[in-house]
Parts: sequence; C-alpha cells; structure tokens
Amino acid sequence: MRLIEIHEQEWFANELRNDVTETLEFIFSFAGVYRNCVVRLQRALQSCKTRQVVDLCSGGGGPWSWLPRTFQDDHEHPIEVCLTDKYPNRAAFLRIRRLSHNLVNYSLERVDAITVPSHLAGFRTMFTSFHHFPEGEGVSILQQAVDSRQGIGIFEAARCCPTAIVLTPLMFLGAFAAVPFVRPFRASRLFWTYVIPVIPFVLFWDGIVSCLRAYSPKELSQMTACLRNNDYIWEVGEETGGLATVTYLIGCPVE
Ligand SMILES: C[S@@+](CC[C@H](N)C(=O)[O-])C[C@H]1O[C@@H](n2cnc3c(N)ncnc32)[C@H](O)[C@@H]1O
Repeated sequence: MRLIEIHEQEWFANELRNDVTETLEFIFSFAGVYRNCVVRLQRALQSCKTRQVVDLCSGGGGPWSWLPRTFQDDHEHPIEVCLTDKYPNRAAFLRIRRLSHNLVNYSLERVDAITVPSHLAGFRTMFTSFHHFPEGEGVSILQQAVDSRQGIGIFEAARCCPTAIVLTPLMFLGAFAAVPFVRPFRASRLFWTYVIPVIPFVLFWDGIVSCLRAYSPKELSQMTACLRNNDYIWEVGEETGGLATVTYLIGCPVE
C-alpha cells in the first residue's frame, strides 16, 4: 500500500526527523530487536569475504550502537562501518562513532539508497528501511548491489501481519517512556513529546504504515528473480527467537 510515512517526507522538519529516528534507535536497541540476526549477518560478511559495511538509511544509527561489539572477537580483522542517509544526522552519527570506539564512521553527503556512489564500497545493510521503497525502487537497490558486486543484507522488523500491526501502539507509549533517555539529549525532544506529542504520533503512524508496506519473504524472493546478471546466492526468510520476528534478505556474489 502506498501510504506515506511522515518522517521520510522532504517537508518534515529535519530536527523532528532526527528526534524520531533517534527515539526509534533507542527503543529498538533497548529491546534488542535485531539481536537474533547477528549470526546471520556475521556469516554473510564471511561469505562475502569483507569486513567493510555501508549502512544505508541509517537514521539515528539503527543497531550499530551495539552491533560492532558482537564482532570484536576478530581483532585482526575489525569490522568497519560507514553510516549513510538521505538526510544524514551528524549528531547521532558522532554518538555512534564514539560508542563503537571509531569502528563505525559516517558520510555526511546525502546518500540515496537507490543510487549509492561507487566510492562507498562494502557489504550494504538496510535496517527497518527497505519498506520505504516501492517495488521498482526495491529492485533497483538490489540490482545496484549486484552490478557493483557488493553483498547486501536487508533486515525488517516491520511485518504486514495482524500481530505486528496490533503491537504498533506500543511505539506511541514507548516514546513517552523512552524520550528522557534518548541521546544526544535535546530539550526540544521533551517538548515535542510531552507538550505536543508529535514524536509519539509519528512513531505510531509511521509504524503502522511500515507494517502495511513491509515485504513478505515471498515478495522479496520475487524481486530477486527480476534481477539481471544475477550470479548471487540469496537467502530469504524470517528470523524468530528474539523479541521480534525479523524478515531478512541476504545476497552474496558467487566467487
Ligand atoms: C525508519 S528510519 C530507519 C533508521 C535506521 N536504519 C534504524 O534502524 O533505526 C528510515 C531512514 O531512511 C531514510 N531514508 C528515507 N528515504 C531514503 C532514501 N531514498 N535513501 C536513503 N535514506 C532514506 C530516512 O531519512 C530515515 O533516516
């Protein structure tokens, strides 16, 4: 369904967008939403023989505030991550870089996930963001990864199913509880939560729309079937066992 998400609109104030994505990052990291995908991501990087990651649509940083710690067992080949976004959030990126002891870096250029510049090389990751793109653009994102011979991993906690949709009002309540703890601290975030609750409302509305737009494993498989020069191994499915079921699509080039 082509409903709009408020935070992705050009007209939405940048500061509010940052407030929304930082709050999302806090709630998902606190709840460990993507913890059940760590092993799958680690295996994907091994298959693609790379330790470089380019995270697209990074928002407030997604899981990269804690994910690099799960790679710390390999001191000889530390992971290097570059956060990117169409609307880069410098303050959030700086915070994630500090938390990761500089394993996570960032680009401040506007990077559209549909046209990733060639100098950003590495395994591409997308967390909670592939549903932003209609099917044709989704296929373009996959095709670009294939054309530039980069691996790609898409992870989506939003799912088009009644349980996920019914649980979304928790985002509204979660924002009220979470906002005082979201960093970097901004007094305006308290105003836009407790005086005029724009942030909880946007998280609620965008959460519902994300679920309605989210692709199923079958739809993701169909997208990979449309790709040209597709000598990739694709894994698609749902990861259960954590707080949330996560839909994933991972593609690695065959050697
Ligand atoms: C729901 S947030 C996800 C943020 C983060 N990945 C996470 O897991 O918390 C979606 C992000 O996608 C970004 N975005 C929307 N359209 C984009 C595009 N065409 N290219 C790159 N980023 C985009 C938005 O600015 C926003 O930061």
